[in-house]
Amino acid sequence: MPDLRVLETTETLYQVEELQRLVWPGSETTVVPVHMLRAAVDHGGVVIGAYEGELLIGFVFGFPGIEETSSGPRLMHVSHMAGIHPEYRNRGLGFALKRAQWQFVRQQGGERICWTYDPLLSRNANLNIAKLGAVCNTNIPNYYGEMRDGLNAGLPSDRFRVDWWVNTPRVEKRLSQTSRRSRNLAQYRSAEAKLINPVHEWIAAFPAPPTEIVSIPNPETGLLLVEIPADFQAMRAVNPQLALSWRVHSRQIFQTCFARGYIVTDFAFEPGERPRSFYVLSHGDSTF
Ligand SMILES: CC(C)(COP(=O)(O)OP(=O)(O)OC[C@H]1O[C@@H](n2cnc3c(N)ncnc32)[C@H](O)[C@@H]1OP(=O)(O)O)[C@@H](O)C(=O)NCCC(=O)NCCS
Repeated sequence: MPDLRVLETTETLYQVEELQRLVWPGSETTVVPVHMLRAAVDHGGVVIGAYEGELLIGFVFGFPGIEETSSGPRLMHVSHMAGIHPEYRNRGLGFALKRAQWQFVRQQGGERICWTYDPLLSRNANLNIAKLGAVCNTNIPNYYGEMRDGLNAGLPSDRFRVDWWVNTPRVEKRLSQTSRRSRNLAQYRSAEAKLINPVHEWIAAFPAPPTEIVSIPNPETGLLLVEIPADFQAMRAVNPQLALSWRVHSRQIFQTCFARGYIVTDFAFEPGERPRSFYVLSHGDSTF
């Protein structure tokens, strides 16, 4: 079990500032500075850190926000950042930190945590959608404009905005396990999920987005699968043009599907020599 701590002092928040420079290298513009972290945690926000000994190896940061709804303004928690030291990824730390954030927000009486992430990052999708049980029906093109840090520079910053309904059975069930195995493609295939962007061409180790999209059925008729690259960051480093074509391709698909009432409800990751990643979209209520 990681050593998780709620961070409130200026000294520990400096550690968070430093860790951000490691996670998002190359530009100060992505770093949330100590004074902002401090102001947030003193007013209903929370920073939770994961430690190995006295070394901070991961953190999650969020603050309260307001959403305008038809029945008036409603409180929610905005989870702005999660970052794990590069040498400590894929060990369940992201899951453990989000779980601690979930407990904190529930204790505050919150119902919903929102955040954004790049929909082409397969690991983030696996964590957010499959393991944590967040859902999504909103894709925002170039949300942050041009970003300058090493993880984001050079591509439009499209983002999924996800909702994590913290008191739902769906989320409680996923968080009651230490780690949820994602469902595989075969299981969805046997449930007659329709893959709308089958990849036919590979450029070196990377899939190329198909030029044709299979026609998108009505949401009521069943499940959809949308393939994304399993390692978009590696693709971006080696072939930025291919990465850009995936950005444009996936934006078009997600915008179309969401406009027709689909919701992202699961994610299937198939590891292996040529790993593959698929969003699962279905029709229904995003708050179940
Ligand atoms: C995204 C991030 C916070 C996740 O933290 P983490 O500790 O690595 O995540 P976890 O280990 O809890 O969960 C990741 C899961 O994805 C799996 N995974 C690894 N590579 C994957 C891939 N290419 N595709 C799909 N799943 C993948 C992991 O095996 C793990 O699943 P498992 O527990 O079933 O084995 C971390 O990787 C990170 O700091 N990334 C850079 C910054 C970032 O993107 N922050 C989030 C936006 S603010």
